[in-house]
Amino acid sequence: MKISIVGSGYVGLVSGACFAQLGNKVICVDNNKKKVAALKKGHIPIYEPGLSELIKSNVLKKRLHFTDSIREGVENSEIIFIAVGTPPSENGEADLTGIENVAANIAKNMKSYRLIVEKSTVPVETGEWVKHTIKSYIKKDVKFDVASNPEFLREGQAIDDFMHPDRIVVGLESQTARQKMELLYKPLNAPIVFTDIKSAELIKHASNSFLATKISFINAVSCICDKVGADVTEVARGMGLDKRIGPGFLSAGIGYGGSCFPKDLEAFVKISEKLGYNFKLLKAVKEINENQKDEFVQKIKNSLWIIKDKNIGVLGISFKPDTDDIRSAPAIDIIKSLEAEGAKVKVYDPQAMDKTKGIFKTVNYCKDPYAVCKGAECLLILTEWDEFKELDFLKIKKLMRRPIIIDGRNIYDSRRLEKIGFTYISVGRGGLLRK
Ligand code: UGA
Repeated sequence: MKISIVGSGYVGLVSGACFAQLGNKVICVDNNKKKVAALKKGHIPIYEPGLSELIKSNVLKKRLHFTDSIREGVENSEIIFIAVGTPPSENGEADLTGIENVAANIAKNMKSYRLIVEKSTVPVETGEWVKHTIKSYIKKDVKFDVASNPEFLREGQAIDDFMHPDRIVVGLESQTARQKMELLYKPLNAPIVFTDIKSAELIKHASNSFLATKISFINAVSCICDKVGADVTEVARGMGLDKRIGPGFLSAGIGYGGSCFPKDLEAFVKISEKLGYNFKLLKAVKEINENQKDEFVQKIKNSLWIIKDKNIGVLGISFKPDTDDIRSAPAIDIIKSLEAEGAKVKVYDPQAMDKTKGIFKTVNYCKDPYAVCKGAECLLILTEWDEFKELDFLKIKKLMRRPIIIDGRNIYDSRRLEKIGFTYISVGRGGLLRK
C-alpha cells in the first residue's frame, strides 16, 4: 500500500521503516529540513537497535523515502499517519498544536479520498478535533475518514514490538477505513481490536497508566520489604505467577522514566480533570514514583553519612537499557540531588553520555565502568545495561576506595558480592533502612 507518516520522531521512524519492510511504499514527512537532509544521507537521529539497518535497506529498495513536503506525502498515499510529538504543556496537558497543524496541512493538500490515522499519543476526543479541523480546511467536497491507531512499542525493542505485537488497536467509523487498516496490518498476523475512535484513544492512555501503576505498586511494596528485610523480587515472583496479575512490570527499582509514562500519566490526569473526574489513583502512582528516587538517595546517605565532597560512581543514565534516551530518567534526578549536596560524581553509560553532557557540566564522564570505580566511595547502578551484569568485581573492589554498591535495579546476587567483601544495598531486598 502507499502510505505516508507525518513526523519523523521515534514512532514515525520506527513505524515508517517497519511498514516499508512489510512491502509498502512509505513516505516519511517532517517539516525539519535539516533532519530530512540528514535522514536522506542515512544519519538516524536516535539510537534504536536495528533501526538504522532497516531504514538503509528499505531506502535502497526504494520502499522508504524522506521529504519535508507534506503535499508530496498527501498526494502519493492512500493512508496518512500523524505521528508528530504531543509534548506536555506547562500545566501537564498534552500540547496538540502539532496535531492541529498537520491535520490542517493534510486537508489543504487533499484532492481525493484519504484515510487519516492518529498514531501520536493523544487525549480522548482528539479524533473529533482532527475531523473538525480537516473539514474546516478541506478545499473541495473531498471525502475522508479519520482513525486512531495508537502505538505500543517500547524503546530498545521497538522493531520487535512493531513486528510482533500482542494486539493492534484501531478505532474507526467506516467500512472503507476498516478494510484499508485490515489490509495494511494483515502481514503481521496479530489480533486487531477494532473499536470506536474514543475507545482506541483511551486504550493507549489507560494501558500506559496501568503499567505505571503496576510499577508504583511494586515500588511501594519494596519500601515495606526494606523495612522488614523481605525480598521484593520473591514477592513479585509469587504475585506474578497468578495469571490475573502476570509477571510483567513488577520489577522494583528507582521508578519509571522515559518520554511516555510520566507524560501520559500527567496528561490522563489532566484530561480526566477537564472531564470532571479526579483520578486520585494516578496522582498517587506519580507520587510513589517521585518518592522512589528520594528513598534511593536516602540509602546513599545512610551508607556514606555526609555526601559533600564524596567521590560517587554512577553506572547508567538512560531511563532504561538499550536506548540513549534520558528524558525523565530517574538517574538524572538522582545525580542532580547528589550534585546539590556537593558530591563529586563520575558516570558511565554505554549510549547516553553525549545527551547527558548538555545537562551536567561538572560531572566527570568516564570511558568505561572501571574508570568510574577508581577511587569511588560508593558505586550506584541506575540503569540495568547488560554490560554491567558481567563486570569483574574483584578488580572493582581493588579500584574503589570503599566497597559499597547501591543497586537501583536489583541486578546482582547479593551473596556473591558480599562474599567478595562488598556492602551491597539494593531495592526492597532487605537494605540499610532496616534498623
Ligand atoms: C512505554 C510502554 O511500555 C509502551 O508500550 C508504549 O508504547 C510506550 O511507553 C509509549 O507510550 O510510547 P517505554 O517508555 O519505551 O514504553 O519503556 P518501558 O519499557 O515501558 O519502561 C518505562 C519505564 O518503566 C522505564 O524507566 C523502566 O525502567 C521502568 N520499569 C519498567 C520499571 O521500573 N519496572 C518494570 O517492571 C518495568
